[in-house]
Amino acid sequence: MQRQGATRLGPLLLLLLPLAWAGEQPVSPRLAGQAARVALHYLNYRQGSPSALRALGQVRKATLKAIPGIGHKYYLQFTTEDYKSSQDVGTCLATVLYLKRKPRPAVNINCTYTKDQKQTREDDYSFYKKMRQQTKSIIGNEIPDNDGNIEPDLEPVWALAVAGSSYIMWEKSTENLGYFMAQVKNVKQWITKDDSTDFDYTVILHEIPTQEMISCHLRVIWIPGHPLKVKYFCLSENQSSESGEGSGIESGSTTGIFNEKEANF
Ligand SMILES: *[C@@H]1O[C@H](CO)[C@@H](O)[C@H](O)[C@H]1NC(C)=O
Ligand SMILES: *[C@@H]1O[C@H](CO)[C@@H](O)[C@H](O)[C@H]1NC(C)=O
Repeated sequence: MQRQGATRLGPLLLLLLPLAWAGEQPVSPRLAGQAARVALHYLNYRQGSPSALRALGQVRKATLKAIPGIGHKYYLQFTTEDYKSSQDVGTCLATVLYLKRKPRPAVNINCTYTKDQKQTREDDYSFYKKMRQQTKSIIGNEIPDNDGNIEPDLEPVWALAVAGSSYIMWEKSTENLGYFMAQVKNVKQWITKDDSTDFDYTVILHEIPTQEMISCHLRVIWIPGHPLKVKYFCLSENQSSESGEGSGIESGSTTGIFNEKEANF
């Protein structure tokens, strides 16, 4: 009897866990989805793996705590899907803190991952190897095209743009404004002498709910297994401009927020 009680403790703890979130307010589905996507932008950028990109599945739980003088903190539990196949790839727990008067939400995220990680590493590496062997720069326009199709050869090039754009989307997101990457307008590869792969992109980001289209010039430098290096410069329809850069080392956690915007891109 005693032993049986002990084995039940695990599930019981899982049931009690949400109580630690007591005192927080429920959240509208729109804001919950918005915050979960911010957490995934952060994850997709930080992982720097074009083969392991995730999209939002379903938000299972979302609460919000207003922290006076600091901002709004969301506590989230959600499922994720593989960006390409839409297959379920695991569940995430995340906190997203929108700070008052500061860009770039502070994100803390832990996920399970059900996709074969050996396979994603191999896919990343074979793309990398292929890019390193290019003697002529890869050049592409309008990915996906107007019919929504992506040429198989350009698919990983597009996926790397999603990973890089995730940095911009994470940095620009606010509690009320979210972003999707709509299209790679054009891409040009730079042939480098070092170990990296290097791409220049123009990407179109779709801002919601404003429906504004934002054009960003994005430079992505990538080596598999290493943090992405990203530099960007964006121009919105309203001609306001913004720039920034990231190297995969900045922390999104509440203890290490800093902002190193640069205007000299
Ligand atoms: C993620 O895991 C770390 C280490 O176990 C923990 O400190 C952090 O609170 C977790 N974050 C979330 C959002 O659960
Ligand atoms: C441009 O700015 C104005 C004023 O701030 C705003 O009303 C308008 O919706 C903006 N345009 C777009 C396309 O977002």
